[in-house]
Amino acid sequence: MILGLETSCDETAAAVITADGRILSNVVSSQADLHERYGGVVPEVASRRHLELVVPVVREALGEAEAGLEDVTLLGVTAGPGLIGALLVGVAAAKAIAWARRLPLVPVDHLHGHVASLYLEPDPVEPPFLCLLASGGHTRLLDVRERGRMPRVLGTTLDDAAGEAFDKGARLLGLGYPGGAAIDRLAKEGDANEFDFPVARVPGFDFSFSGLKTALLYKVRDLGDEELERRRADLAASYQRAIIRALVERTEAAAVQTGAQQIAVVGGVAANSELRAALPHAALAPLELCTDNAAMIASASRYVQEIPFARYLAVDAYASTAA
Ligand code: KG4
Ligand code: ZN
Repeated sequence: MILGLETSCDETAAAVITADGRILSNVVSSQADLHERYGGVVPEVASRRHLELVVPVVREALGEAEAGLEDVTLLGVTAGPGLIGALLVGVAAAKAIAWARRLPLVPVDHLHGHVASLYLEPDPVEPPFLCLLASGGHTRLLDVRERGRMPRVLGTTLDDAAGEAFDKGARLLGLGYPGGAAIDRLAKEGDANEFDFPVARVPGFDFSFSGLKTALLYKVRDLGDEELERRRADLAASYQRAIIRALVERTEAAAVQTGAQQIAVVGGVAANSELRAALPHAALAPLELCTDNAAMIASASRYVQEIPFARYLAVDAYASTAA
């Protein structure tokens, strides 16, 4: 059995999977409530909370899997990118568990983890595929050829990530943090044709969302409180439409240009109902595996060279990947 740990942002997560990709447990303890009043994740607060939660969450994951540490044969942990203090808690915990049991350890790249959410049972997706990875921290178009090889990056965001655009938009609309799911819900009651939010056209397969956020800011200011209250759902629907259009257009264009036979979508924004509906033939990560979790990290750890006992004590977390 593989024990996965994920603490790169504001979710403390642990999961147990089998070597062939069956999920035995997948525990996610979100800190969203804790960070809500600040309107975003406060790194130091997140690190402290991870420290409090990591052991109970691991215990719960083992308990749910009806397993003990003696059943674990491999540790997979997110080593980056993410909040450095938060990552360090997971990496230190994983090292300690692995070292105590003389087990091998795999440092997992968080983005590889999101892609590997597609490799779990019961409906694993087989490369090659063109993957849209859209989360709170990243927006990437990836040419995935093999489960174990880092994919070629075809496009990325020049400014905000798609999830960040959702979160900032939600904040402007007074919907709280994190805002993606809230916009998704409210948009269902609104008319997406009411407001025209232009999406920046940048060359190649890159994305840009910061202009969109500014357009919403001006619109909210122009409307005033009363009007905003009345038209909040229309604003949410129109704003969401613009983000989803940008994602879908770029993804389909990249699929045509690379001749990809299959499109896949992963990451927190892959939970968005409009995005899922807009790509009916795509392989979509299962809803519970879209937002951060440790099952996807355990999954990715199967395709990365493991580091044998004791050598991993020198492994470090990293905040960002060198470009
Ligand atoms: O993958 P994830 O959990 O964390 C990162 O690696 O960043 O993604 C979180 C992001 C947040 O920005 C959140 O607002 C967004 O995913 N999100 C959604 C939905 N559910 C979560 N965005 C749009 N629609 C949703 N239903
Ligand atoms: Zn993530």
